[in-house]
Amino acid sequence: MTQRFTDRVVLVTGGAGGIGAATGRAFAAEGAIVALADRDLAGAEATAAAIIAAGGRASAHAVDIADEDSVDALVAGVVAEHGGLHIAFNNAGVPTPILPTFDELTPEIWRNVIDVNLTGTYLCMRAEVLALRASGGTAIVNTASIQSLRASAGQAGYIASKHGVAGLTKAVALDVIGDGIRVNAVCPGFIMTPMMAPAVAVPEVKAFLEEKAPIHRIAEAEEVARAVLFLASDEASYCVGSLLSVDGGLAI
Ligand code: NAI
Repeated sequence: MTQRFTDRVVLVTGGAGGIGAATGRAFAAEGAIVALADRDLAGAEATAAAIIAAGGRASAHAVDIADEDSVDALVAGVVAEHGGLHIAFNNAGVPTPILPTFDELTPEIWRNVIDVNLTGTYLCMRAEVLALRASGGTAIVNTASIQSLRASAGQAGYIASKHGVAGLTKAVALDVIGDGIRVNAVCPGFIMTPMMAPAVAVPEVKAFLEEKAPIHRIAEAEEVARAVLFLASDEASYCVGSLLSVDGGLAI
């Protein structure tokens, strides 16, 4: 297998499962030292153990990305443990329930999804950029969404948060390209992960999602991971502030 990330230190948030765990495994398979961070520490530890059992290198870290001190401690801890930071994948996020009416979007639901998905991504980039500059790091990839590019009813909070991640990705890309750091994002469509599991467990909903995607299936997390590794690699040397759809044609 190609080894694009030999000895690169890669931080992955949301590394306990789903897209984060699949991407952590893919980075490790190409030689990276992967720091898996999640508010679910046991889940991150399980991902790290599986990587190590497969012959890779990984560590697990607890973090709440919505908390500035927690994020700063995470990045400092990863740098102290592994000697630097070269690539970051900001992927942790939360969904919101699909609400029947806009009136049911409470300030509590709004603040939580904005705090985690948008402010959390900002706090991570804030700390990571300093560490990447100090280490000669080269890339940040954020997880945006199909919901960064379009909208659907009942999810105003989530959609606002993910449109925010898209804007943040483009703006910070301009701010740090002079430091040799490329910032990009993936925009996943329907991906089979723990976040999607409750919806996909309902046969009618699964059939609806498969029908809606032009490719007529739900993706595996590994299919997003491959796009993340491309954006993080030197192969994407001219990608700056790009939003790469991995959605089976949904956003077309
Ligand atoms: P997931 O639920 O398996 O992964 C999300 C991870 O983020 C979980 O491990 C969770 O513990 C962690 N997390 C949540 N809040 C956190 C916080 N405050 N601090 C630290 N960790 C936190 O689901 P999935 O699908 O792998 O989600 C990954 C990303 O992909 C999310 O940003 C999600 O919004 C996005 N996404 C997922 C899609 C899908 O169809 N599964 C589609 C489009 C985007």
